[in-house]
Amino acid sequence: MRFPILAAALLCAPVATALPADCRDKGAGCTLAETAAQAGFWIGAAIDAPPEPAAEAIYPAQFNSVTAENAHKWGPLSDGLGRYDFSRGDQVVAFAEANGARVRGHTLFWGRGPLPADLAGQIAAAPDPAGRAREILVEHVGAVVGHYAGRIHSWDVVNEPLDFFTGNPDPNIMFRQLGIDYIGEAFRAAHAADPGAQLFLNEFFQDYQGEKARAFLSLAADLLAEGVPIHGVGIQGHISPGPDQLMPPDPAAFQAFLAELAALGLAVEITELDVSIFFFRGAADPLAEQARVYGELVGACIAVPACQGVTLWGIEDGDTWLDRTFPSSVVAPNRPLLFDEDLEPKPAWFATRDAIAGRIVPEPGTGALVLIGIAILGGRHRERGRETG
Ligand code: G3I
Repeated sequence: MRFPILAAALLCAPVATALPADCRDKGAGCTLAETAAQAGFWIGAAIDAPPEPAAEAIYPAQFNSVTAENAHKWGPLSDGLGRYDFSRGDQVVAFAEANGARVRGHTLFWGRGPLPADLAGQIAAAPDPAGRAREILVEHVGAVVGHYAGRIHSWDVVNEPLDFFTGNPDPNIMFRQLGIDYIGEAFRAAHAADPGAQLFLNEFFQDYQGEKARAFLSLAADLLAEGVPIHGVGIQGHISPGPDQLMPPDPAAFQAFLAELAALGLAVEITELDVSIFFFRGAADPLAEQARVYGELVGACIAVPACQGVTLWGIEDGDTWLDRTFPSSVVAPNRPLLFDEDLEPKPAWFATRDAIAGRIVPEPGTGALVLIGIAILGGRHRERGRETG
């Protein structure tokens, strides 16, 4: 057959009007999830356990990815070593599965995060504290990843491995006992428990070309060189007033950092994005300025092919950790997210959707189909015009 596409188009002619909306068209009315689906991109949010009403209302239209804001952390899962209550973590995974969304597991070990109360005591009391620390870490990772094997797309295996402000390793309990090798131990245990899960190292930065960023790049490269099963890195992306004063970054520097990480052969994600309105308080239109920064940050991810997803650290402005946590709570409301308190999309929502649309690549031949469809519809319209005069 000489013109298979034309034949296919003619066969499809009666349904030419049913062509899916092209989400590159700002007027197509695509949701975030529809746009992300056409872009082959993940767009997600951090949610509560059980999922809050806003999550129930907004999924699956707006997001195709879920992160538990707290339910998968060590402390919330376990009130004592070896004892687990997965019920709340299970609610998050079940919610994601009911909405056709993937799950980012957050997080298996966070030295500055919530840990079981008896962790430190058990290690200190052991005849071989380092051996006990390793045993506890490997057992925890295996228990949690094993519980969710096959149901969680990716894990933040270690969160914030570096010092708050510098490029030094975070002096957490596992680092003090095992040195930097605790990270590889955790990744290997996670990979053994679920070989299909993507394993991430997750961190935040004040700037993306300074000491901490350089150190993170070196750490990721070292882990790869040692054969550690690390598949990706998460850049948290909090833009929030605080001791770390996470200012809106220079977009070019931000994108260059993502590209450097991708050049290691790693997947990249922005994992905890929120942009406090505080930084735009003097602007004529603070919401427009906030949208500009969202467009820049999401656009930087879209510009780096290995950057596969963006997760917002919350759904709507009425429920954000920034308003509950000192010192950003001092300047509340921070209004950092894509939806307002009434679940209405803000300018930041449109900027994010338009940025994601930048990754949509038209299917080969789609253009021809559309043109043929338009020609056929146009012909029919003319015929109808002749009939109705
Ligand atoms: O659930 C209890 C509640 O029963 C109790 O009455 C209340 C009073 O203290 O505390 C509640 O738990 C709080 C929990 O959030 C749920 O709101 C914890 O105290 C509080 O420490 C916890 O804060 C979370 C924080 O991580 C520490 O785990 C924030 O919600 C969460 O947004 C924040 O997220 C982190 C990421 O995991 C890692 N990157 C940085 C980011 C911001 O800190």
